[in-house]
Amino acid sequence: MSVKLISTIAELREHLKREKATGAIVGLVPTMGALHAGHTRLIGQAVQECGHVVVTLFVNPIQFNQQGDYQRYPRTVDDDLEVCERHGAHVLFAPSLEEMYPHEQRAFVEVTHLGDHLCGEHRPGHFRGVTTVVMKLFNIARPDRAYFGEKDAQQLALISRMAGDLNLPVTIVAVPTVREHDGLALSSRNKHLDPEQRRVAVALYEALRAGEAAIARGTRNSGEVIKEARRAIDQYPEVRLEYFEVVDPEQLQPVSEITGPVRLAGAIWVGSTRLIDNLLCAPSKLENEPVPKLAESTLN
Ligand code: PAJ
Repeated sequence: MSVKLISTIAELREHLKREKATGAIVGLVPTMGALHAGHTRLIGQAVQECGHVVVTLFVNPIQFNQQGDYQRYPRTVDDDLEVCERHGAHVLFAPSLEEMYPHEQRAFVEVTHLGDHLCGEHRPGHFRGVTTVVMKLFNIARPDRAYFGEKDAQQLALISRMAGDLNLPVTIVAVPTVREHDGLALSSRNKHLDPEQRRVAVALYEALRAGEAAIARGTRNSGEVIKEARRAIDQYPEVRLEYFEVVDPEQLQPVSEITGPVRLAGAIWVGSTRLIDNLLCAPSKLENEPVPKLAESTLN
């Protein structure tokens, strides 16, 4: 196996010092493991653009606001190592809990404002945990480029803002969402769904598409767009909608009238599994002009 499994910070730093001395561009792909085709899309892009690719695998307790969700998060290290190997990553950095948090964390990174809505509103403390662990990973690996999925658009926006506002010497790269054939966004949490739950999990994507279609038809009032999305969710009585919002793509604040590109974003519960998804939508200038095709990729 040519992918190297590293579990200590000291060894990773030593290893990367040697790689950087050869002039290699270092790419970082932070993950919580249970790798699927969404993750491998990030790894693949990193391999194309960087001479040395480090995938990180760490289920970060400080970003879980429900202990049960943390406990039952899928852990599949052996498979993940194999996936990294197959996709050409050079290192899988999988530190222990003690390695990342040897004592209680007292220093945190917080990005204000951007976390006020969407998931931030429903998962208190979640994004502070994300930005803090990503900052730690950046300081440990000091990558040139770091890859994040648009599937978690709010996370991506917060991390980009953190990197900009704190002058971090890293380029944040956004990677389009990878979906199943029916449109369900790939997620490690999909593993929790039984066949019937898997069938209805598509409700969120259908709601996003219903919202997108309403905008394409000329609807400019966000309340109306949300109503269309809710109607799609209502087709699936087993699904509980947590939120559905129309926000501006940069500041992630709700908009009431759609005059430019917006992000539609939602979260649903299917049984005890929470799923999120989003779509970037641009209103056409002409009422009957088709909506421009946005970067999305589907599994074949
Ligand atoms: P995790 O959920 O494992 O996701 C790791 C990366 O893969 C994130 O950047 C996420 O946006 C991306 N990703 C997940 N599903 C995707 C899909 N269907 N298509 C494209 N990209 C996808 O996000 C986290 O871990 C954590 O919060 C982390 C950033 C690692 C910090 O702990």
